Amino acid sequence: MWLLLPILLYSAVFLSVRHIYSHWRRRGFPSEKAGITWSFLQKAYRREFRHVEAICEAYQSGKDRLLGIYCFFRPVLLVRNVELAQTILQQSNGHFSELKWDYVAGYRRFNLLEKLAPMFSAKRLSEMFGQVQKVGDHLIHHLLDKEDQGGPFEVDLQQKLRVYSVNIIANLIYGLDINNFEHKDHILTSYLSHSQAIQSIQSFTLGRLPQKSSYTYRLRDLIKQSVELREDHGLIRKDILQLLVRFRNGNEVCGDKWQLDTTNDAEKLLSIKRLAKVAEDLLKVSLDAVASTLTFTLLEILQEPLIVEKLRAEIKELSNTNGQLKFEELSGLRYMDMCLQETLRKYPPLPIIERVCRKSYSLPNSKFTIDEGKTLMVPLLAMHRDEKYFSEPMKYKPLRYLQPGNDVGQCEEKTKSNVFIGFGIGGSQCVGQNFAKLVIKVALIKLLQNFNLELDPKQVKTIQVSHRPAPLIHSKDGLKVKLKRREINPKFYS
Ligand code: HEM
Repeated sequence: MWLLLPILLYSAVFLSVRHIYSHWRRRGFPSEKAGITWSFLQKAYRREFRHVEAICEAYQSGKDRLLGIYCFFRPVLLVRNVELAQTILQQSNGHFSELKWDYVAGYRRFNLLEKLAPMFSAKRLSEMFGQVQKVGDHLIHHLLDKEDQGGPFEVDLQQKLRVYSVNIIANLIYGLDINNFEHKDHILTSYLSHSQAIQSIQSFTLGRLPQKSSYTYRLRDLIKQSVELREDHGLIRKDILQLLVRFRNGNEVCGDKWQLDTTNDAEKLLSIKRLAKVAEDLLKVSLDAVASTLTFTLLEILQEPLIVEKLRAEIKELSNTNGQLKFEELSGLRYMDMCLQETLRKYPPLPIIERVCRKSYSLPNSKFTIDEGKTLMVPLLAMHRDEKYFSEPMKYKPLRYLQPGNDVGQCEEKTKSNVFIGFGIGGSQCVGQNFAKLVIKVALIKLLQNFNLELDPKQVKTIQVSHRPAPLIHSKDGLKVKLKRREINPKFYS
């Protein structure tokens, strides 16, 4: 009897594991040979398992457009063809919609992101530009102060750019007038080290980012205070929070008004808790994406003096009164746009897009159906580094995006159109992409205007790109750069 019990238990576990790992085979999908090996368990136990790399390997194995794989005990359908991924994500009409952005008003259900998208329109961004520049100046002042203390110096620029990123979020999303280069004990500064320390087994896509942390409540308090200042004391500040507060009070997000038209206490469209959740989600999706794009752009361009020269030539054309840029001129920086696109291709901050199927869905041009509750993944990183779409994918070549009629330089090659998906695909694309490009450009312009930057040659050879904690991409040992002030215009930042 006592012997029978463990045998039965073992058999039950064995059969259910075998059942899970035969999910794709039973449905006739091409699938990887599944199972949990001893070496996998050892790696998982030592936290050495690399999710992102494993998904990239699965993408490279075989030629089928779809591949059934298993992430631990989760059957996941990997889409290995860009056109198919685009069709699925654009035309699946609610089969893969993200529940977390649902919100209900009266008897109607809306997608909150669609309602909030006008926050990032060109008109709104142009009026927030003053705040963005101020944050850019904080970064430059901080670095210039360091130089004043003892001449040219070496600094971990990745760390500084993370602080810049958090300053952007603090000022524009949390509506706070702070500079974390000076306020080192601020909660958002400690959030920086916290977010790097998160170790989560499953978090390798946005959908899997840890939803709640000990910071959630402290960040909610920050939002509560800022919202009260605007609703009860009439403070108006041109930032994203102001637009969120307008939305909460039933005022239009688009248009050009910033003050609140009405503050109906009884009927708020967003509770403080929900508004704080939106702000925290924006913090999570933007903090590392902005910092890593800046870091890897600098890593690449500083190895190519010709690229820096071209960027400086473009920047020189900008009108620049007392170090202040003009919003409308930034869209003319075509070479810089191509550099950023190339960075996002080679180092997409979000390496995988993940969707959970809400309603079973017949996959286009195939005999397959994906069932409700099953996960679909689009491996951005692997697609962006696929030779089929981008020749010499590991080379940094901004000119691959050159369009006919663009006079930045000679086009080096043809790149397959529409394969760049760094900001996502179709209707579910990143809503904050224009904001992201803006804040990245401001930091890049100001750094190149004010400093000569030199990489530590020893580090370049050994630099390690890491996705741990997943999915956040960063350089494992930072980015050591030697900075020397450029005496181009002594009036700047005086
Ligand atoms: C270089 C910087 C950035 C990159 C490369 C990037 C890329 C992406 C990608 C690939 C997605 C997923 C799209 C999909 O699921 O199909 C996404 C979603 C999103 N992005 Fe961005 N993003 C960046 C910066 C920002 C910024 C600065 C904001 C706002 C302040 C933002 C707001 C969002 C939001 C709200 C979502 C939806 C997130 C979700 O569904 O959980 N992003 N982004």
